[in-house]
Amino acid sequence: MIGLDTQQQQRALLDNIPDMAWLKDRDCRYLAVNTAYLDILGVPEKLVLGKRPDEIWPPEIAEVYLRTDRAVLKSGRRRRYEEQRPDTAGSLHWFETIKSPIRDHAGRIVGTVGISRDISERKAAEDELVRSRAQLRELSNYLQSVREEERARISRELHDELGQTLTAMKMELGWLRERVPAEPALLRTRLDRLTSIVDQSVVDLQRIAADLRPMILDELGLVSAMQWLTQNLTEGSALSVELSFDREDVAYASDVSTAVFRIAQEALTNIVRHSRATHAKVAVSHDQGELLLDVSDNGRGMHLADTRRERLGLVGMGERAHMLGGSMDIESAPGHGTRISARLPLTSGKSAKATAR
Ligand SMILES: Nc1ncnc2c1ncn2[C@@H]1O[C@H](COP(=O)(O)OP(=O)(O)OP(=O)(O)O)[C@@H](O)[C@H]1O
Ligand SMILES: [Mg+2]
Repeated sequence: MIGLDTQQQQRALLDNIPDMAWLKDRDCRYLAVNTAYLDILGVPEKLVLGKRPDEIWPPEIAEVYLRTDRAVLKSGRRRRYEEQRPDTAGSLHWFETIKSPIRDHAGRIVGTVGISRDISERKAAEDELVRSRAQLRELSNYLQSVREEERARISRELHDELGQTLTAMKMELGWLRERVPAEPALLRTRLDRLTSIVDQSVVDLQRIAADLRPMILDELGLVSAMQWLTQNLTEGSALSVELSFDREDVAYASDVSTAVFRIAQEALTNIVRHSRATHAKVAVSHDQGELLLDVSDNGRGMHLADTRRERLGLVGMGERAHMLGGSMDIESAPGHGTRISARLPLTSGKSAKATAR
């Protein structure tokens, strides 16, 4: 051996531990403590050994130590807990404490051993993470609603301003066409071509405005907008979509109808783009003050673990539901289709305006 007795070996071991470490007997009296312990407590070793926690710690802290010591002695099981304690300067620190029973050769519990680590930095980092997640979520919600408002505004302006201009242009062209002499024919041909360019621009304009934000959603409501969406997305594709509403008489708050519409739009776009499905179902139902949106397909499904994180469609759907105090769920497996279900409260927070007509 290295010429140390058992006690010296124990001492060396204990003092090399940077966390507080100690041994106590069955009566919760300290048998050994390391230097880290004494540094934190701020008293010499001789004032600690043989004492119980209530003789050296303030009563509210000692009470916890005695209670947890007894719990370990009684159960014979390791206990781990987190506690807050002031340092000698009075500022609060978080500690993670682990206590275990010590047994003799016969297996009888003769005392406890403990270790306590300062985890204040980890706690602060965890708090910071929670805070910054909440901030990110707030920012994303804010950006979503700004984007939605911006889209609605541009859509309305395109429709109202540019739409009017094109209509006026078409009327002027009609007036000219009436008055242009039959010869040379080229002149009328050119005018006709110009008229059809204006007609095509009107069609394009309406499509762009509707893609930005279908006015039908604000004017005729969710049911009509969902019918339009389904028809629009499946035109010319082999996919058939079954749309169902358990009630068609609900006037939703605009943030609810926007969220439902956008979630359904993303889910259906994904079906068209990724699923190779032949059939999809979109169902809107109501359950105790909540709207349930269910979009399912019979396509190829996916491994949920594989959904690439940089893709924002699925994440965005969940965020929209979350923003209104709701939730979203995805069920999918290769070969078994995909099902997206969202729950949105109608009666809390921003959506409280929703009422039955
Ligand atoms: N209905 C579906 N059937 C099969 N796979 C799907 C379905 N919906 C989504 N996926 C898979 O999940 C992935 C993530 O979808 P997500 O909507 O997040 O992204 P994306 O559609 O690829 O891109 P974008 O960000 O433009 O939406 C898709 O790339 C696709 O592989
Ligand atoms: Mg997508």
